[in-house]
Amino acid sequence: MAPSSKFWDKSAEKYSKQPVADEAAYQKKLEITRRYFQPDMTVLELGCGTGSTALAHAPYVKHIRATDISANMLAIAKDKAAAANVTNVSFEQATVEDIAVADGTADVVMAHSLLHLLEDKEAALAKIYRMLKPGGVFVSNTVCLGDKMWYFALIEPVGRLLGFMPMVKVFTANHLVERIGQAGFAIDHQWQPEKSIGVFIVAKKPGYSVSR
Ligand SMILES: C[S@@+](CC[C@H](N)C(=O)[O-])C[C@H]1O[C@@H](n2cnc3c(N)ncnc32)[C@H](O)[C@@H]1O
Repeated sequence: MAPSSKFWDKSAEKYSKQPVADEAAYQKKLEITRRYFQPDMTVLELGCGTGSTALAHAPYVKHIRATDISANMLAIAKDKAAAANVTNVSFEQATVEDIAVADGTADVVMAHSLLHLLEDKEAALAKIYRMLKPGGVFVSNTVCLGDKMWYFALIEPVGRLLGFMPMVKVFTANHLVERIGQAGFAIDHQWQPEKSIGVFIVAKKPGYSVSR
């Protein structure tokens, strides 16, 4: 089934007003991500939402191509970029499933709070692997409900039917790590802040890029 933007278009305004759940953990993830950046790098973000992370990273790289399925999320992101005078982030409506990126061209791909929302995360991981240059980096933060909230799988179909929840896949952090490894990546950094259901992972495509 083709992914739908309906839930996200409807929630964009509210989502943009929600404070970050754990600001210290968010800042730490930004800092860890920046250890992998170089000023000449191009970054692709999938499911960028209202653009906060792309805009925060913009000063550290050459260009960020920030993409999302939801036009309403992107409209807010564009307003935020204009207000902050950020000119090296482009926002574009695209799904993970349909986006076209030439193989071996991205230095860094980011997907935050996205993999658990995909029908086929394994296909997405394989695609991200192909997009990256050898030595390229995949940075993700993923809600892994299977460890602490496995019962969510029982609630989710009802929530989705009633329209107050998106489609959410329930899996454990170990399952995710295994799937990232099976896609060909080597895990370089893994962190789950205490009490968080989100797992932050930096994974590397093996190899060495001459441009680095
Ligand atoms: C939970 S929000 C996360 C937004 C942002 N990355 C963040 O961390 O705040 C998930 C985002 O993924 C987008 N999304 C969901 N499914 C998608 C898909 N198949 N392709 C592209 N974007 C998708 C939604 O529109 C939404 O903006």
